[in-house]
Amino acid sequence: MAEPYYLTTAIHYPNGKPHIGHAYETIAADVLARFQRLRGREVRFQTGTDEHGLKMAQKARDLGVTPRALADEMSGHFRALFDKLDISYDRFFRTTEDEHHRASQALWRAMEASGDLYLDRYEGWYSVRDEAYYDDSELSEGEGGEKLSPQGTPVEWTVEESWFFRLSKYQEPLLQLYAEQPEFVRPQTRLNEVRSFVEGGLRDLSVSRTSFDWGVRVPGAEDHVMYVWVDALTNYLTGVGYPDDTPEFRKFWPADLHLIGKDIVRFHAVYWPAFLMSAGLPLPRAVFGHGFLLNRGVKESKTLGNTTDPGELADRYGVDTLRYFLLREFSFGQDGSWSHEAIVNRANAELANSFGNLAQRVLSFIAKNCEGVVEPSAPVTPADEDLRAKVRAACLEQLPEAFEKLAFASGLEAWMQAVFACNAYVDEQAPWALRKTDPERMARVLATLCEAIRNLAVTISPVTPTAAAKILDALSIPPNLRDFAALATSEPQSFRIDSPSPAFPRLELPVEAA
Ligand code: MF3
Repeated sequence: MAEPYYLTTAIHYPNGKPHIGHAYETIAADVLARFQRLRGREVRFQTGTDEHGLKMAQKARDLGVTPRALADEMSGHFRALFDKLDISYDRFFRTTEDEHHRASQALWRAMEASGDLYLDRYEGWYSVRDEAYYDDSELSEGEGGEKLSPQGTPVEWTVEESWFFRLSKYQEPLLQLYAEQPEFVRPQTRLNEVRSFVEGGLRDLSVSRTSFDWGVRVPGAEDHVMYVWVDALTNYLTGVGYPDDTPEFRKFWPADLHLIGKDIVRFHAVYWPAFLMSAGLPLPRAVFGHGFLLNRGVKESKTLGNTTDPGELADRYGVDTLRYFLLREFSFGQDGSWSHEAIVNRANAELANSFGNLAQRVLSFIAKNCEGVVEPSAPVTPADEDLRAKVRAACLEQLPEAFEKLAFASGLEAWMQAVFACNAYVDEQAPWALRKTDPERMARVLATLCEAIRNLAVTISPVTPTAAAKILDALSIPPNLRDFAALATSEPQSFRIDSPSPAFPRLELPVEAA
């Protein structure tokens, strides 16, 4: 039986079009989802949009449209982008769906049944941009003396009757969770931040609003809507069938991983486990807070006018190339800085000139000179065995071990080293010279290379799915043999090459970016 694996991204506010950070997170999650499928796991991968709250309501009002219309339009842009980027989500979630209101109310009732909800008056700071409450001690002063949140967003003083969640009750249980399960929050720096936040003491959390009505109604108090983070976090449960105790729910909950940005770790590693403990539900296994992408070292923002449409980047450089670049260039978990030059250099050096060139020169040589057929009879030499061992170590051990830890860049580095080894082997063995002198040895060399390319293509397929499929098609590898189990257990003895064509284009730096 395939082991289930439930993976989620954050769900995004559809108050504007998606930016490169959304693409980054979702691509990373997609690579992980495809990688786990390749390992034979039964994957559930969820992404989507977070459509309630004051930020959405205000944006819609500014635009003179209803929040629903804004959500419908912008959610469509997110979905279209993810489709363009080959994101293999199993479910694109929208919090405005009816079943989600029912699930959020069920979670609320469960927390209420534990005695963790009470009515009081909230007086304090709120950032609409972050949809977050802050303590006075967390704020700083802006240039004009105005108060700013730790994220640098404006805050407003809010006084309102509201429901409260007894977060303070969960201080000890949370600290115990971090102590017993340090892998719960990754990377380590994020765990440290969360732990010191909790050690500093937890105040009860305001979990409803009365000053607007764009949200999920509080059951039994219909003039309140839930604080947007309460219903947002619940998406992870709704997506697998909560509140119904279905086989699906039992299979996929708890989630294996919530992949999110480093700025929202507090919601996922403090509030969320506390809500779940209160409701008597199992906790997710891990939360990973990735870093931010900077544009030549600067954060993209509408004010600076340096925003990038990720769809345009994909059109310009190719979806596979963009996916590879984003995971290869940066250490996942840390911030990274991208530029057009960096994309072009990385793609040309590693994809076009190394892996792409390897596949294309070997496969087209076979197509042209061997009628597309390789059936070796000559013995395997130590050089062949050496290459085989290097490639298999990279594909079956090093990359998988790194990807399990979300160390994408180092997994790809190991894969790249195996590609370099193949290119060195081609140069040393010079199969084109053997064609006249020793055709039997030539067939062995080509078969060794085809086998290496098969391994490399299957292994890179979570990152560059279209190009990998193209190469595997040219190698006539049946679709059901394109996973790690097939690599581990079968080694084809002969190959048939079918119309190979370059899988990775050579890129030029756009003039305006040079
Ligand atoms: N919409 C939130 C943000 O962009 C993220 C919500 S993730 C969820 O910051 F899990 F709470 F849904």
